[in-house]
Amino acid sequence: MTKHPRIFDNAAAVFSAAADRVLELGGRAIAERGVFHLALAGGSTPEGLYRELARPERAGALAWERTHIYFGDERCVPPDNTQSNFRMAQQSLLRHVPVPAGQVHRIRGEDEPHAAAAAYEELLARYLPQTEGGWQLDLILLGLGPDGHIASLFPETDILGKRKALAAPVFVPKLDSWRISVTLPVINHARHIMLLVSGAGKAEVVRQALEVTPGTALPVQLIRPRGVPEWFLDRDAARELGPEARS
Ligand code: 6PG
Repeated sequence: MTKHPRIFDNAAAVFSAAADRVLELGGRAIAERGVFHLALAGGSTPEGLYRELARPERAGALAWERTHIYFGDERCVPPDNTQSNFRMAQQSLLRHVPVPAGQVHRIRGEDEPHAAAAAYEELLARYLPQTEGGWQLDLILLGLGPDGHIASLFPETDILGKRKALAAPVFVPKLDSWRISVTLPVINHARHIMLLVSGAGKAEVVRQALEVTPGTALPVQLIRPRGVPEWFLDRDAARELGPEARS
């Protein structure tokens, strides 16, 4: 896990820098392979990043017609539900950029969870390039929950142990709800991982994730990527980190 997260004064600066990095990685993917396979994060934090990407001066900087959009996870609700990660992305980014509708691959949260997860796994296998380690995203964006969950890989859930599936349904007892998520192998095999974390409420889990010897307690500590996950933190989220992380 990287020991040198990028730390910014505030969330707005995180979103601006993260947007520039997404554009850089997207442009590189398209230049090298003609396509950019990008998985969006859910929750509330990334909305600021999506709004930055939707700004005219940035939106024109990416070949959206060569971009495929996926979702790291989805709540089991219809796409027009206020809890839907697709709805949040649609409103903050997707309806503002010319990504072809057929290249926005949402998880069908309105369907029965096991069927929706199976359908999404087939979709990932259909659209993503397969490399020696499996199907590969160019970039996956992740938020981080206070309990260390990423996507819908919550602590003590059976999805954490899935090594062959690309997507799976997961019942989250603390939320008393079903979700659908990509699995750890899909995250770890992505060419790039960006984690966006904002606010003092995440400071302790960020410290554990970056400075506590990896154990299996926190799902985020199970990230064993090909590359180095890139952390984008605001000062509040980074406030528990030691001097090494700030060097
Ligand atoms: C979701 C996300 C989830 C989220 C974290 C952080 O569907 O909620 O995939 O993993 O990234 O819970 O959420 P916030 O950004 O709202 O703090």
